[in-house]
Amino acid sequence: MTRPLDVRDLTPGDLPDCGWSGSALHLDSVARELVRAEAGEVDYLVVCTSSGSPIAIGGVDFAKLPGAGYLYQLGVRPAMQRRGVGTLLVRALEDRIRRRGLARSELCYERHTSGNGVFYRGLGYLAYGTVVEGWEQAGPDGTPEWYETTCVQMRRDLTAPAA
Ligand SMILES: CC(C)(COP(=O)(O)OP(=O)(O)OC[C@H]1O[C@@H](n2cnc3c(N)ncnc32)[C@H](O)[C@@H]1OP(=O)(O)O)[C@@H](O)C(=O)NCCC(=O)NCCS
Repeated sequence: MTRPLDVRDLTPGDLPDCGWSGSALHLDSVARELVRAEAGEVDYLVVCTSSGSPIAIGGVDFAKLPGAGYLYQLGVRPAMQRRGVGTLLVRALEDRIRRRGLARSELCYERHTSGNGVFYRGLGYLAYGTVVEGWEQAGPDGTPEWYETTCVQMRRDLTAPAA
């Protein structure tokens, strides 16, 4: 990246500029996570260009697993993918985990998205199992429908050197 990027906490005021990250349903769920962030249960970050446009968002949940931060809802604006932005976001989220005195980062990705596996392995994450996860997402006509998928569980020891 030639232009400097800013990483900071996401605010509700950023959400109208984050439509690239998913449906209105998804943005509603991000807005709910920002309420949890106010309560200190999660940190939710945004990567912005020098002009202030959000190009990546993602959270770390401190309430889901004992002794670990759980990375979730990571997304990079499609036109900005494969330029190191996702790596920057993951490393910033890991720093938030360390700041809380924790030494383990966990996440999961949908098993059929093999490119995500390549991404996280490259960042030093190791697979340790699978789990079926489900969530509401927008169906073809935009109405919410339940979606279930098998996810690969991964973790990284944050005391180990970055890959
Ligand atoms: C997955 C995601 C967050 C990665 O962010 P990114 O900014 O594109 O990733 P980076 O540029 O930091 O990638 C670093 C390296 O990871 C690997 N990588 C990343 N995406 C990959 C893909 N789709 N296929 C294969 N390798 C990939 C590559 O080795 C890449 O280095 P390279 O581009 O020099 O080859 C982004 O593609 C994304 O938002 N995808 C859609 C939403 C999503 O799937 N989120 C994750 C949910 S678990």
